[in-house]
Amino acid sequence: MKTFYIETFGCQMNVHDTEKVVGILLAQGYSRVLEPGQADLVLYNTCSIRDKAEQKVFQRLRQFKREAGRDKRFAVLGCVAQQEGLRIFEKAPHVSLVCGSASYTRLPGMLEQLEAGARRVTGLELDAGETFETPFTRRDNPYRAYVTVIEGCDKSCAYCVVPFTRGPERSRTSRSVMEEVRRLAGAGCTEVQLLGQNVNSYRDPSAAGWDFAALLARVAEVPGLRRVRFTTSHPRDFVRGIVEAIDSNPVLANHIHLPVQSGSSRVLERMQRLYTREDYLRRIEWIQVARRNIAISTDIIAGFPGETEADFQETLSLLDDVGYASIFSFKYSPRPNTPALGLDHQVPEEEKGRRLAMVQEKQRAIQLARNAELVGSLQEVLVEGYNQATGQWIGRTAQNRVLNFTRAGSNGASLLGEYLSVRVTRAGPNSLAGESVESAGTPPAAESV
Ligand code: SAH
Ligand code: SF4
Ligand code: F3S
Repeated sequence: MKTFYIETFGCQMNVHDTEKVVGILLAQGYSRVLEPGQADLVLYNTCSIRDKAEQKVFQRLRQFKREAGRDKRFAVLGCVAQQEGLRIFEKAPHVSLVCGSASYTRLPGMLEQLEAGARRVTGLELDAGETFETPFTRRDNPYRAYVTVIEGCDKSCAYCVVPFTRGPERSRTSRSVMEEVRRLAGAGCTEVQLLGQNVNSYRDPSAAGWDFAALLARVAEVPGLRRVRFTTSHPRDFVRGIVEAIDSNPVLANHIHLPVQSGSSRVLERMQRLYTREDYLRRIEWIQVARRNIAISTDIIAGFPGETEADFQETLSLLDDVGYASIFSFKYSPRPNTPALGLDHQVPEEEKGRRLAMVQEKQRAIQLARNAELVGSLQEVLVEGYNQATGQWIGRTAQNRVLNFTRAGSNGASLLGEYLSVRVTRAGPNSLAGESVESAGTPPAAESV
């Protein structure tokens, strides 16, 4: 019996790619093991967005260097594979397979070459066409599913490797998306998350010609779905039609992730983000005047080259102006091939750290205050897990907040995948706590705020 172990780093796109790769491996007669020590084939699906992420895979590979041999093979997939290509064989000579995400449909043939004894196999073409779907995708979660709608990225943000690691934008046909979503809903899945590095530039390549707002509206009409999410939106391509779609169908979750990166127009220009602070705030206003209460989250980079103290203060003031429900924040990390490498005035590491800490401290206070507003309210959650240590169920609200809750008399019966109404009793900066008050399946007593 052939066995494999896979570990995933990086974004939701990578998590979903792993589901495709797992399906391909199972179809090729492999079985999955949960320890690398037990596997004939160890795969790392890698991320290259920041240096730290890239280093992780090389650390892992070093750990197992001595075990590699005819009976134990190593594969590097994903964004580091695409970025480093054949150099991976130099850095880690015990690796036998290097394959970027655009080539996963060719994995079966590549696995056969490996099994036939090939020492080094590669899949590094970026123009491999249709890579959205395999007939094999093995999703981990029966209730929530990722669905890729667009691959790649045509922007050229000065700090970012994604255009190199995922190639140019390729949209999937609306028909193929709709078929997959209907099939998922038919199998009992109630939440789908549409994925793309820039979902807003989705353009149906078929005659129907839908834009992203149109696709979103149609997906939300598929019977059986209760929540539809999407990520990521680029502010430049974000249109009001998306807010209107959310306003007109409650199945579309009231949460938008709109990465800003910096609050300073000067820095945004150096980042080649193609919008100013004012352009961004106009989009925020569209969202904030919507009929529904839509949570907004963002990404921030601290210490981009040339970011002055005054620029940085503008990022802090933007956090106050928008009042984000949550943020992801990072120190700027210089990346290979990116235009920002050539910029002068790099910010010292220590100063980046100081700025990052200030961003996080400010946001923590904002989140605590925003979450505290929810105490006493009723929220509908999808139950995603159970925490043995605390005896709490883990739920997620439509606005994407984590709400840990207790439920009297649940008698150990699984609530996973159910939608429950939960009264919020406490708020922390990163999550809420509460008690489930209604029986499963009943609609929430109030529109979730
Ligand atoms: N397509 C998405 C972002 C994908 S990368 C978008 O355009 O928003 C996710 C986040 O990683 C980015 O939003 C950015 O905040 C961060 N990031 C990307 N490159 C980075 C780098 N070189 N250093 C630090 N953070 C980076
Ligand atoms: Fe990277 Fe910019 Fe593309 Fe996002 S939009 S993936 S940050 S290049
Ligand atoms: Fe990382 Fe690649 Fe995603 S670089 S963030 S895994 S697109």
